[in-house]
Amino acid sequence: MNRIILETRNIVRDYHIGGSLFRKPKTVHAVKGVSLKVEEGKTLAIVGESGCGKSTLARMITMIDPPTAGELLIEGEKVDIAHQKLAPELRRKVQIVFQNPYGSLNPRQKIGDVLMEPLIINTDIPAGERRERAMQMLTKVGLDEKHFNRYPHMFSGGQRQRIAIARALMLNPKLLVLDEPVSALDLSVQAQVLNLLGDLQDEFGLTYVFISHDLSVVRYIADDVMVMYFGEAVEYGSRDEVFSSPKHDYTKTLFAATPRADVESIRARLARKAA
Ligand SMILES: Nc1ncnc2c1ncn2[C@@H]1O[C@H](COP(=O)(O)OP(=O)(O)OP(=O)(O)O)[C@@H](O)[C@H]1O
Ligand SMILES: [Mg+2]
Repeated sequence: MNRIILETRNIVRDYHIGGSLFRKPKTVHAVKGVSLKVEEGKTLAIVGESGCGKSTLARMITMIDPPTAGELLIEGEKVDIAHQKLAPELRRKVQIVFQNPYGSLNPRQKIGDVLMEPLIINTDIPAGERRERAMQMLTKVGLDEKHFNRYPHMFSGGQRQRIAIARALMLNPKLLVLDEPVSALDLSVQAQVLNLLGDLQDEFGLTYVFISHDLSVVRYIADDVMVMYFGEAVEYGSRDEVFSSPKHDYTKTLFAATPRADVESIRARLARKAA
């Protein structure tokens, strides 16, 4: 068995919503005790309907929000962001890519600066080398060195998502959390970005937590699958296990209801076009 990069033990997140004159305060149990383990170089896909707690779990894994209870371990090391200041090396190990790259890219910042920024903030790598690394990363994600001085609005959605992925990789993370990274893209572009993610995973030995509501995407990229329902993991196992014999009623309904846009066939078509 490979090294475990990510583990959660019964991780919980409640949100307390303040009351007002007319409303009582209430607590939302967004994540109700989820345990998972992801090995190095593997992809765990998390699926479930809107509001089931996927992004909340992602924010705890990326050390943005503290859990209400339970434990988070990154490379076997316990992380407690509620009570201790995290070492920068630990933070760097986990990066996140969001659904909408436009929202997360500053429109006034040139792409080269977007990519160099994490290096400026987190390292003392000299300017020349920063530039060099950013250029290299551009080509790694399928863009071009001539894009270095362009602004985000000059790119397509797929290209912008490539930029967001490049930025996430600048600090050599171990784990990438991808929260619906291709949901806003056209189908053919989705396939290209998924292929890119696969290539980068192989090249850098990356571990992925991939959040999606699209089962055809999940089937294509996942090693393991977790199905969440109202804050709980109602299904968790290898992709083949979960797809071939879904146990929970919710999963059965989910599988029955989702149309299959077949990413595999899109990939084949692209390969034929390129040939
Ligand atoms: N900052 C917050 N304050 C209060 N409640 C929140 C907050 N963030 C999320 N919630 C609630 O927690 C629950 C889980 O939300 P979450 O965003 O994790 O769902 P999700 O599975 O990512 O949904 P989607 O597929 O729509 O992105 C929801 O009921 C949501 O309203
Ligand atoms: Mg979400």
